Amino acid sequence: MIDIEKCRAGAEYICKKTDLRPKIAIILGSGLGELTKQLSSPVKIKYTDIPGFAKCTNKAHEGALYVGKLDGVPAALFSGRYHYYEGHGFDVMGNVIGTMKFAGIEKLVITNAVGAINPAYAIGDFVLIKDHIKLAAESPVRGNGDSELGDRFFDMSDAYSKELREKVKASAEALGESMHEGVYFFASGPQYETPAEIRAFSLLGGDVVGMSCVPEAIAAAYCGIKTVGISCVTNMAAGISKNKLSDADVIDVTKKMSERFKKLIIRIVKDIDAV
Ligand code: HPA
Repeated sequence: MIDIEKCRAGAEYICKKTDLRPKIAIILGSGLGELTKQLSSPVKIKYTDIPGFAKCTNKAHEGALYVGKLDGVPAALFSGRYHYYEGHGFDVMGNVIGTMKFAGIEKLVITNAVGAINPAYAIGDFVLIKDHIKLAAESPVRGNGDSELGDRFFDMSDAYSKELREKVKASAEALGESMHEGVYFFASGPQYETPAEIRAFSLLGGDVVGMSCVPEAIAAAYCGIKTVGISCVTNMAAGISKNKLSDADVIDVTKKMSERFKKLIIRIVKDIDAV
């Protein structure tokens, strides 16, 4: 359940730290935090200083919010995120999104590392998320009901905004980057999946698998924040890959994708700002 008072306090705290009022936020996934270095005159706020925010326990996630301008566009960069596998309920991710909403965010770019289930995808590819599948029972807004942030029952058919996706595709094309469009399958982790699970996820319609994104996308849909998700394929999923999966390899690939990723996100932010 999103704690509305915590979100309000978090947003007030952030707004006191900077006069910029970005309408776009970006959540930076594993190993993708380098984008913060592209911000002009950023204000850095540690997550642990923001009311209602927890500590990031994944070492590839810095745990700090940067507010500044990305190629002239005011943006809030969330360097690091919370995951279910760290022991957090989905509400912790929901609170981050609720805080964004009270701080004035209208559009959200979620980024993450994924394993590819779809054999047509390859390591180093970008995937634009068109939808997701979550079999876990959790919801970040379980218990919220109708509130200032949203309605108890809300539509998820445009959770990954078609309008913004069209923009993102055009941004990628302009940069000569090819991009798949696929379905993100949420896995709770922290263990990677078994080959049998991956075969099942494939039959169910998953193209990529990851341990994040979905709690944030659900909370953003509740709050009426337009969202797009961009995944970096860091490995072929279990059973497809002949190699054993390892976090070190995942981080290594995100680092190698970093330059392309930064260019792509900067362009996307510029293009979706205009929507
Ligand atoms: N499975 C789940 N999460 C991931 C993977 C994977 O193969 N790769 C990167 N994040």
